[in-house]
Amino acid sequence: MKTAIIFASTHGTTEKLSQLLSEQLTGEVQLVNLKKKTKVILDEFDAIIIGGSIHAGGMQQKVKQFIEKNKEVLLAKKIGLFLCCMFDGEQAQKQFETAYPKELRCASISNGLFGGEFIFKKMNFVEKLIVKKVSGVTSDVSKIDIKAIEKFASDFNHSNRWSS
Ligand SMILES: Cc1cc2nc3c(=O)[nH]c(=O)nc-3n(C[C@H](O)[C@H](O)[C@H](O)COP(=O)(O)O)c2cc1C
Repeated sequence: MKTAIIFASTHGTTEKLSQLLSEQLTGEVQLVNLKKKTKVILDEFDAIIIGGSIHAGGMQQKVKQFIEKNKEVLLAKKIGLFLCCMFDGEQAQKQFETAYPKELRCASISNGLFGGEFIFKKMNFVEKLIVKKVSGVTSDVSKIDIKAIEKFASDFNHSNRWSS
C-alpha cells in the first residue's frame, strides 16, 4: 500500500503532524506539501490522506482547490481526512464539516481533528491581533491531540474496506 499525505500548513503545525502521522502508518508513505508542490500524480498512490488547518474560519485555499480538482479520483481511492485547529468539540466538528465536502467525509476511512498550536513568532502583526482578539491568548499554546493521531493511524491501517 502506497499512501500520500497531501497537506498545506501556514505556520508548520499541519506539516509537523503530517510527519508524525506518516511514522504511524504502515506501508510506503510520501508527504506532499501543496505550498511547495502543486502537481501530484495521484495514480502513483493507493491511498490519499488530506490535511489542512483552519485560519479565521477557513481552510487553506490550496487544499480546497486540490479537492475540487481531484474529487472524482479521490472518491475512487482509500482516503482519510484530518484538520488542525484550536477549537475543539462541536465548533471543531463544524469547521471540519465546512472544510471537507460531505461526499469525501462519508467515503473517508479516518476523519481526524488533531488540535493545533499558536506560535506567536510565526505570526504576522495582523495574525497576532486576530488571535489575541478571538482567543484572548498572548503567548504560545500547544493543544496537539496525540491520541487522535494514533487513532486515525490505527483506523486507517486496519481498515478492511480496501485491500492493499
Ligand atoms: C490568524 C489565525 C487564525 C486562526 N483561526 C482559527 C479559527 O478560526 N478556528 C480554529 O479552530 N483555529 C484557528 N486558528 C488556529 C490554527 O488552526 C492553529 O494555529 C493551527 O495549528 C495552524 O496550523 P498550521 O500552522 O499548519 O497552519 C487560527 C490561527 C491563527 C494564527
